Amino acid sequence: MIKRLFYKSVYKSDDVYPMDDNLSKVLNTHRTKVYDNISNATSNDTYVLNNPLCNELKSWVHGHLVKFFYDYYKIDKEVKMYITQSWLNFTENGEYHHHHNHPNSIISGVFYFTGEDLELRFHNDQELFKGFSLKTNEYTEDNSDTYTVKFSSGELVLFPSHMKHDVPKFKGKLRISLAFNTFIKGDIGSLSGLTRVEI
Ligand SMILES: [Fe+2]
Repeated sequence: MIKRLFYKSVYKSDDVYPMDDNLSKVLNTHRTKVYDNISNATSNDTYVLNNPLCNELKSWVHGHLVKFFYDYYKIDKEVKMYITQSWLNFTENGEYHHHHNHPNSIISGVFYFTGEDLELRFHNDQELFKGFSLKTNEYTEDNSDTYTVKFSSGELVLFPSHMKHDVPKFKGKLRISLAFNTFIKGDIGSLSGLTRVEI
């Protein structure tokens, strides 16, 4: 038998959040108020989910964060998880989103507004047989340097913020996504474990 140890988990929403008038207004407001990223563009507003027009979307996102952080990872509810910054990424045909991760965040996420089969590529920092590149007969998540997950509009992905990721060169009309970070507050550690912090 094979016992898998210390693997990483990426969460994909089972349900889809429908595009509505409120979200269209938000996108229209921000489309021209952007700054250049390395290849694509990011909204000047980096607290997009604080817009009252995003209230429903924010609570839907929060519901999925609860499932991932508390139900899946079994974190105690005394550790309060909250969304910090949230911003829009606009990626035109031929552009890409550079390789990065999200410092000062616990769980990060991306919500997709437009399109189908939108690629998000995760990079494996636990390379198999470090320092070697061996021929393989099949592409699997264990033997590859990267693994690409595909998403469609209305879907949400959550992942540990330290995981490196990028978006390969995009082919299509316009890729619009909302990315966000989270942090924690409350009584987060253990008194007897000498890890107690109240923040
Ligand atoms: Fe990202």
